[in-house]
Amino acid sequence: MIRVRLLVLSIASVLVVIGCGEHRLPEGDAHDGDLAAGRLIFERKCARCHSSRGDGKTAVAGRFPYANLIDGVWRSDGSAETIEKQIRQGHDPMPSFQGKLTDEQIRQTVVYVRELTDPKGGPKR
Ligand code: HEC
Repeated sequence: MIRVRLLVLSIASVLVVIGCGEHRLPEGDAHDGDLAAGRLIFERKCARCHSSRGDGKTAVAGRFPYANLIDGVWRSDGSAETIEKQIRQGHDPMPSFQGKLTDEQIRQTVVYVRELTDPKGGPKR
């Protein structure tokens, strides 16, 4: 009987430790990590067309109004889903990044683009 109680106790304490481990890392940290990774990817893969600021005022993309990602004007609706779709599929003249970026990298890029386009952190759609 004591053994069973001990077993239950140790399982419970393991669960508590796992639970605390998750809480030790506030959500903000993971988000900040995604932002930093996303910024790097954006600089390397997107900024030559969209500029580091995201305003799209570059020789390559300057005449495409929707290349401006920070004016609040979208061809799509500016949601995380459509941004991800655009990255995966591209849209002439923007190349497709499917297979060139991993799913994780695409997710991080979306996090960064969303931050770039809505730095006030408005309601996330
Ligand atoms: C070769 C130049 C080029 C590269 C590289 C490029 N883009 Fe684009 N992108 C464009 C142009 C031009 C448009 C506007 C054309 C369109 O989709 O109507 C655009 C549109 C977009 C849109 C859609 C905006 C809207 O109004 O819906 C998103 C989101 C976007 N790009 C994100 C990215 C991200 C993120 C990367 C990097 C992974 C990237 N782009 C790389 C040229 C580029």
